[in-house]
Amino acid sequence: MSTHIGANRGDIASTVLMPGDPLRAKYIAETYLDNPVCYSSVRNMLGFTGTYKGHKISVQGAGMGIPSLAIYTTEMIKEFGVDTIYRVGSCGGMSPDVKMRDIILGQAGTTDSSIIANTFGPGVYYSPIADFELLDSAYQTAKANDVDVKVGNIFAADRFYNDELDMQKLTDYGVLATEMETAGLYLLAAKYHIRALTILTVSDHLQTGESLSAKDRETSFDEMIRLSLDTAIA
Ligand code: ADE
Repeated sequence: MSTHIGANRGDIASTVLMPGDPLRAKYIAETYLDNPVCYSSVRNMLGFTGTYKGHKISVQGAGMGIPSLAIYTTEMIKEFGVDTIYRVGSCGGMSPDVKMRDIILGQAGTTDSSIIANTFGPGVYYSPIADFELLDSAYQTAKANDVDVKVGNIFAADRFYNDELDMQKLTDYGVLATEMETAGLYLLAAKYHIRALTILTVSDHLQTGESLSAKDRETSFDEMIRLSLDTAIA
């Protein structure tokens, strides 16, 4: 067992889907995986392993924000040999090109988190990026299944409530959407030489103030999960 994950080595698959919400992890495991087994409930940050179309897959909750995601990501990689992580989650649309319920593949992760400066020191603005093979595979899988996806830069905000940041400027520079994790995931993937990709659905929009109903949230979430799982076994 690692500090925050109550599993034995071998309990966790080498490929993991990582939603922020542990109850989403439970829902994904119970809805899509055959024979799901809960391997950890430490701090209620649930993790499950099962099979999808015969392939061993795990689903691990990661919490909100880079600090929480970094705990689970680091332990999954270092203690359990995980080598491929799909972050699945929701985001706030920023670009007018992005509509409610759209699925977005995170090509790159911009952030105001201190994790970049903490890693490289002042003056170096490292650009965390998705694994190209996973990105390409998700894009091709979406196309083959007639699922529309957008591909682009995702802004991982250090704070959910933030009046100070110039979100319009980020939008003007091509950022599609905001959440709170992708840049951290991609940075850790680079550090530990593993593969990572973020797949998101737009659940609210900063330009229009729209927000998805619970029902619409569920439907678009399901489409994203199917795409993630089909990519994971492609
Ligand atoms: N996740 C979903 N919507 C978000 C938003 N507007 N800001 C940050 N994270 C989000």
